[in-house]
Amino acid sequence: TVESRAIGPNMTACHHSYGRPDLLVYCCPPGFEKSVPFVDFELPEPPSPVKVRRPAHLLDESFIVKYNKALSIMKSLPYDDPRSFARQAELHCQFCTGAYEQLNYSDTPVNIHRTWLFFPWHRMMIYFHERILGSLIGDDSFALPFWAWDIPESMPMPDYYVDENSAFFHTERDFSHFPPRVADLDYTTDQNHPHRSNDEQIDVNLKFMYTQMVSGARKTELFMGCTYRANDGYCDTTGTVEHAPHNTLHTWLGSSLNPGREDMGKFYSAAKDPIFYAHHSNIDRLWEAWRKINNRRLDITDPDWLDSFFFFYDENLKLVKIKVRDVLDITKLGYSFEEVDHPWLNHRP
Ligand code: C2O
Repeated sequence: TVESRAIGPNMTACHHSYGRPDLLVYCCPPGFEKSVPFVDFELPEPPSPVKVRRPAHLLDESFIVKYNKALSIMKSLPYDDPRSFARQAELHCQFCTGAYEQLNYSDTPVNIHRTWLFFPWHRMMIYFHERILGSLIGDDSFALPFWAWDIPESMPMPDYYVDENSAFFHTERDFSHFPPRVADLDYTTDQNHPHRSNDEQIDVNLKFMYTQMVSGARKTELFMGCTYRANDGYCDTTGTVEHAPHNTLHTWLGSSLNPGREDMGKFYSAAKDPIFYAHHSNIDRLWEAWRKINNRRLDITDPDWLDSFFFFYDENLKLVKIKVRDVLDITKLGYSFEEVDHPWLNHRP
């Protein structure tokens, strides 16, 4: 028998971590030192309705009102409550800055970016986030929208995020990138980075998507990120889409007035911005799109990936242990994505 080298956190070993090379942060949950009983993940039982995630630019007003209400309640929960918005944001801080040690390997942090854990960990995070939002308003059909920045009509930030009177608004953003400005999917803060008209940008974006999703992503590691095993050191290589548009849009969204373009511009602070969740809902959808383009032939089958595990609080305040293998079938997880066209599929550069 081969020893498993699946990654997982030691939940009683959390510490300060670096949010930027020059910034020490502390995002450990209160009372982490005491171990808390947990349950193993179970798939949601039918007959709960399928949650259909819809494109953010096509939402109707009644959905926005409902989501705004759920998010406002979540933001009003006390910090002690792991369902609170502040604590949801801290989850991201913990796993993106290496705040936890690996189980059985002290001094070796768990880091989910720039590795093959990127897609599954974020899927888990927003899965629980979505269920908590639904339960706060007693609606088990509630589904997170996705910001489809890969299709032309949805390339600007969705309007409801810039409504100052809503729970979606966030001050720590780059206001010069507000709608109708089209997102720059390969944005850099480099001084020589071209400034394009919206039409030019759309064309560049579509070709870029083709590269990131198709021509540059024909091997598993190219899309999924590098192989990362327990006690191996941090492998530290992004997949195509993780690098861009994922990282680049984080930068594009965050405020140019902050040293790391916080909040979206740095991972320790990113999930404090409500747009984080619509951004990741689209990332989650593109993972499914890539699997479909390749007829699932490039899916990872390595047990060290499949058995890597994390812990999340669910909508009933139960701590749940969940493995990567638990989140590979979104139908079983009870959600789906409304179909949208993929115009980038025929935009080979
Ligand atoms: Cu964990 Cu969009 O980052």
